[in-house]
Amino acid sequence: MKAAVFHKIGDISVDNVEDPKIEAPDDVILKVTSTAICGSDLHIYDGFVPQLRDQVLGHEFMGIVEEAGPSVTKVKKGDRVVVPFPIACGQCYFCAHLLPGHCEHTNPDHYGPEGDLMKGKGGGMYGYTDLYGGYNGGQAEYVRVPKANFGPKIIPDGLSDEEVLFLTDIFPTGYTAVDWGEPKGGETYVIFGSGPVGLMAQKSAWLKGAKRVIAVDPLEYRLQKARDVNKVETINANDADLMEKIRSMTGGRGADIAIDAVGMEANRTFLEKAKAVINAEKGTDKAIDYCTQAVRRGGIVSVVGVYASPYDNFPVHRIFDKGLIMKFGQAPVQKYIDELFEIVRNGKVVLNDIITHKLPLAEASNAYDMFKNKKDDCVKVVLKP
Ligand SMILES: NC(=O)c1ccc[n+]([C@@H]2O[C@H](COP(=O)([O-])OP(=O)(O)OC[C@H]3O[C@@H](n4cnc5c(N)ncnc54)[C@H](O)[C@@H]3O)[C@@H](O)[C@H]2O)c1
Ligand SMILES: [Zn+2]
Ligand SMILES: [Zn+2]
Repeated sequence: MKAAVFHKIGDISVDNVEDPKIEAPDDVILKVTSTAICGSDLHIYDGFVPQLRDQVLGHEFMGIVEEAGPSVTKVKKGDRVVVPFPIACGQCYFCAHLLPGHCEHTNPDHYGPEGDLMKGKGGGMYGYTDLYGGYNGGQAEYVRVPKANFGPKIIPDGLSDEEVLFLTDIFPTGYTAVDWGEPKGGETYVIFGSGPVGLMAQKSAWLKGAKRVIAVDPLEYRLQKARDVNKVETINANDADLMEKIRSMTGGRGADIAIDAVGMEANRTFLEKAKAVINAEKGTDKAIDYCTQAVRRGGIVSVVGVYASPYDNFPVHRIFDKGLIMKFGQAPVQKYIDELFEIVRNGKVVLNDIITHKLPLAEASNAYDMFKNKKDDCVKVVLKP
């Protein structure tokens, strides 16, 4: 089959690889009909999350069940499904606590309580390096889906792939960021990053009764997208008066909820890059720092942007002084997927308006380059195997 294979930093090509096979009785093989590129894939592409051998990437995918193992009861051949990006058993301590990203059974070689740089990681994820289970991903014609009695969600005909594909990751991720803010309705949000995840957080904030949603990004075309599809207010991240503007819009106090939908690859100056090399930091924690500045005292900061190293000068003094609540981590997609599917099905939210490019899988290499380098006003790419 054909698949987008990561070889080394900046080198992804569409190659012929071996077809996936059923390896455990509760596996299914999916024929992929649509798959997307995520900002998290860029962390591998850019070398911020290390991978030393070739691997098929992709954790946002959906398709048709081609073959089901003997103990699969939840889906059958011919079913059309979307698949959450965390691979989870549905039965362990963490799955029982609705924390599928921390599943104890899907990353046997590198799992543990430590959360260290190179060991003691969380549960398995599709196409997300050997540290997270070494599973091949879904930017491919076919993919093996383990733990198929827990992950895949059946999608009825009548909804297009594009309408439901983002239930795999970015919609639940944006929704998680908002839900972690414990909204009761009437809150003001400041959302850093107006890429796919930030855009989904903006949609989720409105769904949860936001009074005001302020989006921040250095790229004007992404802010334009945010205004067009989500009717939010926007501020350019390079604005010299960024924090003053946020405070002037929030009664001088700051936002109730601040969201980091940027992660460690935030835009950086040459000096910031040099500091990171000296401190052995992967990228920067700038977006977290911005969140702690922009949120009000006693407010909540949700960090769904990905971080993969410790950071010098982490603003713990401000977090303490302002009495902030902070939540970090991968989104527990399985926890929300049923609820979010109903929201999509009832037309309360539209997800496919963020797609800017639909391309054949064969063009994955160019698609990565375009998404990473923000060419052609790219926001979200869907690949068709
Ligand atoms: N926690 C999860 O479960 C989860 C799931 C999916 C993605 N992610 C992560 O979310 C992050 C965003 O993903 P994406 O797909 O939207 O990627 P993306 O790279 O397209 O979006 C990041 C956006 O942040 C903007 N940005 C850069 N520096 C900024 C700054 N200083 N202030 C404000 N904005 C800034 C960029 O211009 C870009 O628009 C990534 O780190 C990704 O790994 C996490
Ligand atoms: Zn993702
Ligand atoms: Zn589990």
